[in-house]
Amino acid sequence: MQFEIWTKGLAELSVDCLAVGVHDDGELTPEAKVLDLRCREKLSRLVKRGDFTAKAGETWLLTDLDGIHAERVLLVGIGPKSPSSKEGVTRKTWRRAVAAAVGAATRTRIGALALALPRPTTKLLSDERLGRAVAEIAGHTLYRVNDLKSGKKPRAHALSRVVVVATAKAEQSIKQGFSQGSALASGAALMRNLANLPGNICTPTYLAKTAQDLAKSYKSLRVKVLGLPEIKREKMGCFLAVTQGSEEPPRFLVIEHRHPRAQAVNKGAPVVLVGKGITFDSGGISLKDPPTMDEMKFDMSGAACVIGTMKAVAELNLPLNIVGLVAACENMPDGRAIKPGDIVTSAAGLTVEILNTDAEGRLILCDALHYARRFKPQVVVDMATLTGAIVVALGTHHTGVFANDDALARELVECGAAVDDRAWHMPLTEEYGEQLKSNFADMANVAGRDGGSITAAAFLAKFTKDLTWAHLDIAGTAYQGGAGKGSTGRPSAMLLEFLLRRATAR
Ligand code: BES
Ligand code: MN
Ligand code: ZN
Repeated sequence: MQFEIWTKGLAELSVDCLAVGVHDDGELTPEAKVLDLRCREKLSRLVKRGDFTAKAGETWLLTDLDGIHAERVLLVGIGPKSPSSKEGVTRKTWRRAVAAAVGAATRTRIGALALALPRPTTKLLSDERLGRAVAEIAGHTLYRVNDLKSGKKPRAHALSRVVVVATAKAEQSIKQGFSQGSALASGAALMRNLANLPGNICTPTYLAKTAQDLAKSYKSLRVKVLGLPEIKREKMGCFLAVTQGSEEPPRFLVIEHRHPRAQAVNKGAPVVLVGKGITFDSGGISLKDPPTMDEMKFDMSGAACVIGTMKAVAELNLPLNIVGLVAACENMPDGRAIKPGDIVTSAAGLTVEILNTDAEGRLILCDALHYARRFKPQVVVDMATLTGAIVVALGTHHTGVFANDDALARELVECGAAVDDRAWHMPLTEEYGEQLKSNFADMANVAGRDGGSITAAAFLAKFTKDLTWAHLDIAGTAYQGGAGKGSTGRPSAMLLEFLLRRATAR
């Protein structure tokens, strides 16, 4: 997809389609008014007739209007007008309108689409973030799930150019945003592809192969894959405990992005990202209920997000050292599987009594977090579909942020808010860790139902004492169930914002 800027007159813009906004009271936006004057008020007559109600996200396609170069004009509903016209539109309305315009274009033969929509003020959305969001939304809207259906393929869309109408002053920043957004979209699409694939295709070996292929495409990336013997050599007893009930071989991935200029930031200390890569979570001997068990193929969303994000940072060649770690295996019931009551020794040397084999994410993550130490990281961020309890607490709108450093948690929450990939700071005080007491080992892997997402985070905190660390529980945000079942690509946008900021911070 190509992204461009147009800074001249609207009526002179030659594209297949020009999208302009209309308020739900029928009032045309300034851009729409410009066109309206050129085509002898045909737009206002159409709207007055009432065929197009201009509800937020609704669209109406018009063709061959006299006096306008563009072949088609797409009216996009942008909802109610804000009380003060200076405030412009909200980010939410704007994002919806962009998505609606792109979506409408894909249902036609439109190849080049121009967006002349009212924008949120630069205070609400900087020019750079606007450019990033356009490319991100376009990528998200055009995404199609990897097709495993036989039979006739749906017609491919024709859209190949998106033109943003803007001021000359904003041009450079928006263009900068376009490259960020294109990288973000390609990383998020990779995440979604991996997460949407079924467990019998997207195995730990498949994840490893994907990472190795990335390293072939990007010079800044180096990938190391540990198999069973190497994982044993690292004494990752908790990770090994989870994988031992599966026929599918485990993989531990180390994906490094190095940049020569990163030395200037924090003496080159890397940001380490850690992803939970359970390619299928049956619960193990503590077997899950059948109804939505298929969704546990998404239990590698954290790993997929790490891999996708590594692609995005490599694409942008961010001046920052970043290490992606992925622990990948299946959680299965078997004659050799771990049993409730079993005690194993983590790579850090702490012993763990496994009271519930379905609390497997924290087991693979604690060994991955221990592995992160060797990089002497400036910060470690893990992401995992860790608990059903976070979905109870926050629903599907916010990612749960836990950290042993309040400033880091705030930074992540702020990044999420800035790019509409929202997160919420959860508490993580000592008491929760004390609930993990075991009579037989250093700790148990579960602590009852209450505060389940917090005790899970508290388990991880026992392994990150002298690291600056945050944990993102993405069980509610990384994928959707129901009719729109599939990966959302979250929290790729929040993470990229975090890395962009870290790359420029001194
Ligand atoms: N992968 C699940 C968490 C999960 C549940 C993600 C629902 C998305 C939707 C995790 O491995 C798990 O099973 N957690 C248990 C922990 C419990 C046994 C303490 C849970 O949340 O029920
Ligand atoms: Mn589980
Ligand atoms: Zn799980």
